[in-house]
Amino acid sequence: MKNTRHFVYKLNSYVHLRLNLNNMHAPSLKDQFLLNDQVTFLNFGSFGASPRPVFEKYQAYQLEMERDPVQFITNRGQTYLKQSRTALSSFINCDADDIVMVTNPSYAVNTIAKSLNLNADDEILSTDLEYGACDRTWNFVCKNNGAKYIRQKISLPLKDADTFVEELFKGVSAKTKLVFISHITSTTALILPVEAVAKKAKQLGIPVFIDGAHVPGHIPLDIKQLDVEYYTGACHKWMMTPKGSSFMYVKKSLQSKTFPLVVSWGYEAMFPSNSHYQDWHTMNGTRDYTAFLCVPESIQFMEDYDWKSVATNSRYMVKENAHQFAEALESSLLAPLTDQFIGQMLAVEIKTSDPEKLYRTLYDNYHIEIPVMRHDDKVFMRYSINGFNSQQDLENLFMAIKDIKNNSTLL
Ligand SMILES: Cc1ncc(COP(=O)(O)O)c(C=O)c1O
Repeated sequence: MKNTRHFVYKLNSYVHLRLNLNNMHAPSLKDQFLLNDQVTFLNFGSFGASPRPVFEKYQAYQLEMERDPVQFITNRGQTYLKQSRTALSSFINCDADDIVMVTNPSYAVNTIAKSLNLNADDEILSTDLEYGACDRTWNFVCKNNGAKYIRQKISLPLKDADTFVEELFKGVSAKTKLVFISHITSTTALILPVEAVAKKAKQLGIPVFIDGAHVPGHIPLDIKQLDVEYYTGACHKWMMTPKGSSFMYVKKSLQSKTFPLVVSWGYEAMFPSNSHYQDWHTMNGTRDYTAFLCVPESIQFMEDYDWKSVATNSRYMVKENAHQFAEALESSLLAPLTDQFIGQMLAVEIKTSDPEKLYRTLYDNYHIEIPVMRHDDKVFMRYSINGFNSQQDLENLFMAIKDIKNNSTLL
């Protein structure tokens, strides 16, 4: 059945591509998602979306749990969890025991930040492009410990990796305890040169924590090769698992110092596993962890639907429309249009009298889901493209922008 589905998809895909080069994706792929077809969905970046087979697997796990809760939570579910972690570790290339599943990247950032035992002699070096929730976590932890959170200014548009590294490390000092940086930023949708940052930090002997919320399933990730101390990524965004499924990676040598955010049965466990790290961060109270279990199904879906090609086509569509998007909003690009800096999202700074009203207007009046986000004193609009999007989705957006400009003071 799966093979037939795959063959039909491939055939459709080929015919569709031949018929309409602008409209890169086969309609059958759109049918694989549960998204409301009355809405032009240009915001995959915020919370992803699960394809049908993955979501069905999720519901099947939930039913299995409800039928036999004790056996599922304490026994069978743990086996599925291990299988999921093993599949994920192959996908991102690290040892399975070095990652734990967590609800979201905020959870991982909190766990690590609170384990660092910061004091007044410490600084966390970061950029002014980070995600608001992470900024808030670092502000909170640093303030409580007398440490300093340094948001180093990065010039936009980005130019190249060397300039980026130079600007970031202007903020380094003898007090720098950790470099914290996004792999792909949220409001500005930029792939940052984390490999070059990791290399420089290693030369200086400073540990690195990468916030890769947007990375798995979006751009290739090889944790072993990156060789940083800490990494977190969301599976529910671009890997398309159900929501509330993410991971935290900690290098082996630091695992015994990375304490559980919620202390429960996993701490001083009655029947410890071979890894305190796994026990501490896995057994932390009753919860529905079925979203964690769907990683193998998501990977299978990506294989069945040739997600490498889907991603390539999506990146192409992102870039093809970038100039028109920027021009429509009387703005400019935030980086060169290359795979080094741009993936399946593109953002530009906009001038608007009311960002929240603009977002609501786009959704309520034009049925377009696209984020309009404040970042410090700036506002950005960002589109995401995935396999179910077509050129028509972006045409809808361009028409809406034109209409709003002609008929309101919002733009
Ligand atoms: C760069 C970045 N970091 C972290 C997160 C994680 O947010 P949360 O923990 O709320 O899922 C996001 C979510 O969009 C993000 O874009």
